[in-house]
Amino acid sequence: MSKSWFNDARFGIFIHWGPYAVHGRCVWASYRERMALSEYEGYARRFTASEYRPDEWVDMAWNAGARYMVLCTRQHPGYALFDSRVSEFTAAKGTPGRDLVAEYVEACRRKGMRIGFYYSLLDWRYPAYFNGPEKDPQGWSELRAYVHAQVLELMSNYGKIDVLWYDGRWPYTAEDWRSSELNAEVRRLQPDILINNRSGLAEDFGTPEQQIPGKPDLGAMWESCMTMNEHWGYSPGDLNWKTPRQLIHMLVKCACLGGNLLLDVGPKPDGTFPEEAVERLEIIGQWMAKNGESIYGAGWTPLNERDHGVTHIHNLLGLTGAAGMKGRTLYLHIYCWQGSELPVGNLKTPVLSARLLATGEKVDFHQKDDRLILQNLPEKAPDPYDTVIALELDGQPERYPDFRPFV
Ligand code: GLC
Repeated sequence: MSKSWFNDARFGIFIHWGPYAVHGRCVWASYRERMALSEYEGYARRFTASEYRPDEWVDMAWNAGARYMVLCTRQHPGYALFDSRVSEFTAAKGTPGRDLVAEYVEACRRKGMRIGFYYSLLDWRYPAYFNGPEKDPQGWSELRAYVHAQVLELMSNYGKIDVLWYDGRWPYTAEDWRSSELNAEVRRLQPDILINNRSGLAEDFGTPEQQIPGKPDLGAMWESCMTMNEHWGYSPGDLNWKTPRQLIHMLVKCACLGGNLLLDVGPKPDGTFPEEAVERLEIIGQWMAKNGESIYGAGWTPLNERDHGVTHIHNLLGLTGAAGMKGRTLYLHIYCWQGSELPVGNLKTPVLSARLLATGEKVDFHQKDDRLILQNLPEKAPDPYDTVIALELDGQPERYPDFRPFV
């Protein structure tokens, strides 16, 4: 089973879209506000998808540098973006009158974008979800049968799917949902699929949410999912957008720790991306077009200091930045430019050559004992967000211990 594409990709786009885009108060508004289903159905009637052109989504994601997407096919409020034999509450039977998932899949396939489906096990419309399997065994088994049926529809009706991204298991167990039975069936239908860890079983990859781990989790696959502002789904009232600089550094941090970034976009009810998201994707894309080599397939380097993670590579750079590695190439991500000279401490492996990744221009250097000095660099940071310098190393990366006299 080939899973390596996931590590090569490093960057995916998450899409939270459904009737919750109409009220614009995020997926969770139904629950927090104790919104009656009839009120939510009103939003569903106004969910038009009238400007939904998934090829444009896929192009924007691709041009940003993402190589896979994960679409929320059904979120906690229960509305499915796909056509389902076991539910009336769907885009196909509702206002859009179309299977929005089918169109997304076709658009991804046209571009060669890997395809992911998010699916929430829980559905707030079912009282059995709140009452639980103990108090309402009958209701629970109906809920579970419906959930299994929908997951299997998603796995059967759209051809090859690359990622199944569960959510919403809580507060119940994998046994309550019969996750291992369901996942076995999923793998029978989709032998190459990657499954996340949110059906209560570890499966293929971990999903830290709204955070990036501080340290590498070597050997395990993981993906941090992050919003661009602070909500899941279109939330025009939330102006707390992360800056392009923060987003690029998040992506770099994930890659240098050996993980992925799944960055969320919440399209408007008509299916268009908010302007703030479009702008940010474009800027990330401009950076990735020049520096993608340092992200795709790159990962952790022991030259980073384990205890301090990658944003404070104290003993290598002595300043904020990150270091990642692919083969024998070490990528230094310089966030705080230092002018024409950049001293790097403690690198033991001889450096064969150095270049500015964005332009390929050679960088002069002088390496003696535990000091490498990169020289004759531009006075001003060549890249406002992150200038990457690629060093070809002569052998496996090794460093000197840092706790020793240096004068
Ligand atoms: C949370 C939210 C859900 C969202 C998910 C993304 O679990 O409940 O709405 O889709 O995070 O990770």
